[in-house]
Amino acid sequence: LTFDYNNMLAPRLGGRGIDPASLDAMAGRFREAHADTARRREAGEIGFFALADANAVVDEIQTFADGQGQAFSNLVVLGIGGSALGTIALRTALLHPLWNELDDEERDYYPRIYVLDNIDPATIGPFLDRIDLGRTLFNIVSKSGGTAETMSQYLIVRERLQAAFGEDYRRHLLFTTDPEKGVLRALAGEEQIPTLPIPSNVGGRFSVLSSVGLLPAAMAGIDIAALLEGARDMVAKCETDDLRANPAGVFAALQYLADTERQAPIHVMMPYSDRLRDVADWFRQLWAESLGKQRTREGSEVFAGPTPVKSLGATDQHSQVQLYVEGPFDKTITFLSEADFGPDVPIPSAYEHHAELAYLGGHSMGELLRTEMLATEAALAQRGRMNMSIEIPRVDAHALGELMMMLQIATVYAGHFYGIDPLDQPGVELGKQLTYGIMGRPGFEQARAEWEGRTPK
Ligand code: PA5
Repeated sequence: LTFDYNNMLAPRLGGRGIDPASLDAMAGRFREAHADTARRREAGEIGFFALADANAVVDEIQTFADGQGQAFSNLVVLGIGGSALGTIALRTALLHPLWNELDDEERDYYPRIYVLDNIDPATIGPFLDRIDLGRTLFNIVSKSGGTAETMSQYLIVRERLQAAFGEDYRRHLLFTTDPEKGVLRALAGEEQIPTLPIPSNVGGRFSVLSSVGLLPAAMAGIDIAALLEGARDMVAKCETDDLRANPAGVFAALQYLADTERQAPIHVMMPYSDRLRDVADWFRQLWAESLGKQRTREGSEVFAGPTPVKSLGATDQHSQVQLYVEGPFDKTITFLSEADFGPDVPIPSAYEHHAELAYLGGHSMGELLRTEMLATEAALAQRGRMNMSIEIPRVDAHALGELMMMLQIATVYAGHFYGIDPLDQPGVELGKQLTYGIMGRPGFEQARAEWEGRTPK
């Protein structure tokens, strides 16, 4: 990864950016964050670093993908949040943009990949009516095994499979869940349904490099060994506690300083690459759910956390960029790009007598996209807006592994800077408990009573 953060710093922004001395002053706090992260890794509290080395599980995943998995033309992932967004990001980045529309031969007989990460009946009903159940494997992905959205989808799918195939319904199911806990794990034992584990110390939004993301990737023919090698390389790069040499540390420190010293709590991630668009969506959850926390400091409540925003270049130049360039000084923009787009699309020369069109001829779409990114960066800098860029050589499995691991590590460091635990999500759990209570799940009567006692709208 190439990382350029000059446009985050005051000297390039007419004094509006981060003072380089403030970044240097973070060195001590970063050493503490790094040591605390090492301690939590050692204690087994943070499991995602070790995923890059989890060879036994990787063999299990690849064996499933190359064996049972090959019997299907469709893989449907039922999952939400961290159980869905990493898979979507990998699919968008590493598969053909029209993957699910290619015919079997064009896909090399790898399955189509669908991710149902919502419960809108307007999607679920027509989708299940249309899909050929006989050629479909449903992968139920839930770390807790209890999430209402995913489990309700599962109940619907199971009933349809049983109606279609009787006892053979099991052949169309795979559970990806905690190795010990949760109802999915119990059901797998009762009904003899194959499973893949999500390590207990890996939370949903940090699970893309576990079986959660790796199984769908492997089933679609993505090189999961390269993905993990990229992740391993990034873990190695981040072993240093020298802030300026640690890419995840620099990313976290700059975003933190932008928020807390320069009053810029809105963190936009803006890929200039369709392939990377869902990495921004995945990051949006990672950053929001990990860092948006309420805590008590010196007896009073503090509300921490930047607001991540996803944006896409060049599309959003015609939607958002006016606001980014001239609106309030409350944002940072992180550009994501690829140095090599692969086969480019030339722009033909035509209309030589119309200068306002003729200039495009002889250039290419990749060149235009890149130019537009550089122009947006320059416009932001000219108006004193903080921005940085992360460039990967090309969008492949290795680079994705590096990038996603870097952003996950940065999230843990940022949690330390904000003084919160980036690994929990009490706000999400509160919503889950209220849903369980309202829907009548035993054990959640208190949540139901709270709901019923609420002040009416
Ligand atoms: O990151 C998280 O922990 C959450 O977004 C979860 O992934 C999400 O709530 C789904 O949970 P589960 O995988 O337990 O069904």
